[in-house]
Amino acid sequence: MYDLKGKVAIITGAGRHHGLGEGIAKRLVAEGARVVLTDIGTPKGERFAKEHIGTSAEMNEIVAEIRAAGGVAVALTCDVRSESDVQVVIDRTVKEFGRLDVFVNNAGVGYIMKPMLELSQEDWDAVLEVNLRGVFFGTKHAARQMIHQGSGGRIINITSQAARHAFPDLAAYVSSKHAVVGLTRTAALEFGRHGITVNAVGPNHVTTGLGARQNEYRAKTQGISVEQLLANRAATIPLGRVGKVSDISAMCAFLASDQAQYITGQAFDVSGGQEMHN
Ligand SMILES: NC(=O)c1ccc[n+]([C@@H]2O[C@H](COP(=O)([O-])OP(=O)(O)OC[C@H]3O[C@@H](n4cnc5c(N)ncnc54)[C@H](O)[C@@H]3O)[C@@H](O)[C@H]2O)c1
Repeated sequence: MYDLKGKVAIITGAGRHHGLGEGIAKRLVAEGARVVLTDIGTPKGERFAKEHIGTSAEMNEIVAEIRAAGGVAVALTCDVRSESDVQVVIDRTVKEFGRLDVFVNNAGVGYIMKPMLELSQEDWDAVLEVNLRGVFFGTKHAARQMIHQGSGGRIINITSQAARHAFPDLAAYVSSKHAVVGLTRTAALEFGRHGITVNAVGPNHVTTGLGARQNEYRAKTQGISVEQLLANRAATIPLGRVGKVSDISAMCAFLASDQAQYITGQAFDVSGGQEMHN
């Protein structure tokens, strides 16, 4: 539907089964792109514990699935908090595939949920370092490579409903996602003359690893089951259901394509219209 033949894309935080990054990578491949999946790869302390992250083994499984289906994909470890990691991934991508056309800043930490009075500096930094600083590094170095190539490009930042609305016990997350909209708009202004578009895509709830963790927390604090929580949530969504990975990956494929060449600096809700109720 959106012809991405010949395009090369990097997706961060794409090493987890059922995650948005996996879905975005597979959809871009289905449109003809060659993809580089990246993720943190190994646990790093209690805030990046195994149950919250995409491991290298899991990312390699996803790449194997893509290849088995005839797609072209590579897995590279990249901690988006590290500017040099991000630079190395872009350099290796260009070495492997000759170019970079699409960069999706998808990696995110949304599982640290605490009332603000209990939120430590370490919690705050863990979220902001991935969700904001990581997006800055990805945007900066992807744009640098795209400018060098001289044929434009696409940068897509995965934000959230939390980029527009407040949610309790998610102060750092909400702050980071609001900030990414500002970064997106600034990058769109600075890079527009190079033919690079920069847009944000804001999902509502999707039951990924991160989404499931948020559900458990919300259900517990409200004293209801996860099933009840999801049913209550669906009732506030005009289109009658929570989000699916495919809803988000379809938007990314569109924004990555030539069809979206005149769209930049925008923050899209892909949420079944839920924000009208919030
Ligand atoms: N699932 C939802 O309901 C939902 C809603 C709105 C926005 N989002 C956003 O979607 C994006 C993807 O989340 P998801 O729901 O697919 O969850 P997920 O847990 O499957 O994906 C998040 C990924 O980010 C990676 N990551 C964390 N720290 C990293 C680091 N330092 N360097 C590199 N990678 C790192 C994790 O390893 C993980 O693979 C996130 O930005 C999240 O905030 C999700």
